[in-house]
Order: sequence, then structure tokens, then C-alpha cells
Amino acid sequence: MIPEIEKILVSQEEIAAKVQELGSRISADYKGSELLVIGILKGAAIFMSDLVRSIEGAVAFDFMAVSSYGASTESSGVVRIVKDLDQSIEGRHVLIVEDVVDTGLTLNYLVDNLRSRNPASLKLCSLLDKPSRRKVEVKADYLGFEIPDEFVVGYGLDYSERFRTLPYVAVLKPEVYQK
Ligand code: PRP
Repeated sequence: MIPEIEKILVSQEEIAAKVQELGSRISADYKGSELLVIGILKGAAIFMSDLVRSIEGAVAFDFMAVSSYGASTESSGVVRIVKDLDQSIEGRHVLIVEDVVDTGLTLNYLVDNLRSRNPASLKLCSLLDKPSRRKVEVKADYLGFEIPDEFVVGYGLDYSERFRTLPYVAVLKPEVYQK
């Protein structure tokens, strides 16, 4: 464990087991149809790269990048698309992959935006959920772990672009972000 970390919340082993479990469920649910997985940069990149390899069957993937206006640690609900999809999703089975649903504002916007493009189906998979922080209702169809409202990093999640590559999800020591 690195010195900036207070405690590990979800271990590497727990994440690996959950990724396999979610991959099996997704494989069964989309059996026989091609799936388009959309990862929301940057946080979802690590989770998505593991998840797509645990899904059996035809899977294509693409990325979107969004930025929310306002304070850096909290989304404002006003979302700007920084990188859009490379392809049309009309008539396709789409699965959005996120690292964490927090206030729900980003996902609420994304779901509305993608739904207006007429996919055959649209579902959401998130590794983490902080339900106590929710401002608008968003529910993941596939969820890894519900976590408390703590400052977490690792497995894609960052603090000022640091700690994304940690193999576990961990709580950051307050003195790291209170400096
Ligand atoms: C995080 C996360 C979600 C969003 C969730 O992204 O990946 O996209 O915040 O927050 P919300 O539910 O309150 O809208 P962030 O803006 O930190 O960007 P990053 O993925 O590039 O780190």
C-alpha cells in the first residue's frame, strides 16, 4: 500500500471476482446480439478494459469524454461532450460503462443524450455507486459495489490525475487533498 492511502475499500481480488460475475451476467443477457460498450473517459478506462475481456460474444467498444462545468470535485449537471462517439448507435445494443455514479448528474445527461440517438437498447454498468450523494435518480443495471461517501481513488479513479493506476479502490488520506 502506498503512503497516501488510508485504507483499501475494494481489493484487487474482489474487483477481479466482480468483473467476472458482471461479465457472465452481461454475456447471458446479450447472448446472440452484438453489444456496443461505451466507456466514459477517463475513469472507466481500466474497469472497461477488464470488463470487455470477461464478456463472451461479439463486443465492440467506443469512448466518450465529457466534462462538467463548475467545481472540480463535484459535477454541476451541465455537461459538455469533449469527445463524441466515432459511430452511430442507432439500432444497436449499447452498454454505458462508468467507474462511479456519484450525484448521477453526468449519467443522467448521458443517458438522455444517447437515448435520443435511438439505440435498440441502452443500459448502464458502473463499478461503484455512492447512493448517498445522489441528486437525480440514476440506477445502474449492472453494479459492482455500493460504497460510502468517501474520497476514493484507484482502478481508474483519480485525485488530480494521480492514483488511477492503483489495482484496488482505496480511501485517500484527507491530508493529501486538504493541502
Ligand atoms: C467522474 C465519473 C463520472 C462522474 C460521476 O468523472 O467517472 O463520469 O464523475 O459523477 P456524477 O454522478 O456526480 O455526475 P470525472 O468528472 O471525475 O472525470 P474522470 O473520469 O476523467 O476522472
